Amino acid sequence: MELFIDTANIEEIREACSWGCITGATTNPKIMSKEKAGYSFREKIKEILDIVKNPVSVEVTGEDFESMVEEARDYASWDENIVIKIPMGIEGLKAVNILEKKFGIKTNVTAIMASNQAILAALSSATYASIFYGRVCDLGYDAYDVIQKTSQLFKLHRVKTKIIVGSIRTLLDVNRSFSAGADIVTIPFKFLKMMTKNLQTEATIKEFNDIWKEMRETKAIKLETKKRVAPTSLSFVKR
Ligand code: E4P
Repeated sequence: MELFIDTANIEEIREACSWGCITGATTNPKIMSKEKAGYSFREKIKEILDIVKNPVSVEVTGEDFESMVEEARDYASWDENIVIKIPMGIEGLKAVNILEKKFGIKTNVTAIMASNQAILAALSSATYASIFYGRVCDLGYDAYDVIQKTSQLFKLHRVKTKIIVGSIRTLLDVNRSFSAGADIVTIPFKFLKMMTKNLQTEATIKEFNDIWKEMRETKAIKLETKKRVAPTSLSFVKR
């Protein structure tokens, strides 16, 4: 079970990675377009890689397999943690086959809406197959069933391709994706933050701390703990 961050926003990625729960990042052309104007694509991706230090998916925009392969080889030469996102389709499958088998470049077949497509991605040797939860549901199908069926098939046939679930629109999508057998869920920072929150958790922590504070005063409890370390001296924390 792994969580990736689905954004190109550096502040969000830095914050999310500091929690220790994130083991990768995914981008796509739409996500890249949300960033402030005038940036260098290569520099932005390198910055993300420097923070994540784990697989980062970068999507090709070429439409035929030759241009996809050319674009992919260029991106892959930037860093060994780059995974090439290839759109599902005939040209995409041809590109995955060459990239994985001839050049040893890891791929992530993206925009998968059905198990049939995931089967093809796996058979073409893709490292990852990305199923789009929200967009499957938009079509009127249950994304849970698609993920569960795909996961069962992959297990039954000992397929190595990992299932990433993206297009997350609610926290329930995250839980259901993992229950259905997703190896990885990639989520926008907004949802990652929401995952930490629960009113009852906050009320409980407040209740405990308030009681402790009151009792320490009324019962004159001595703490006798070490002096608090200033945050700047926490040198073991990588920022
Ligand atoms: C996943 O890899 C994609 O980047 C992303 O989750 C697509 O989600 P959307 O449906 O919000 O565009």
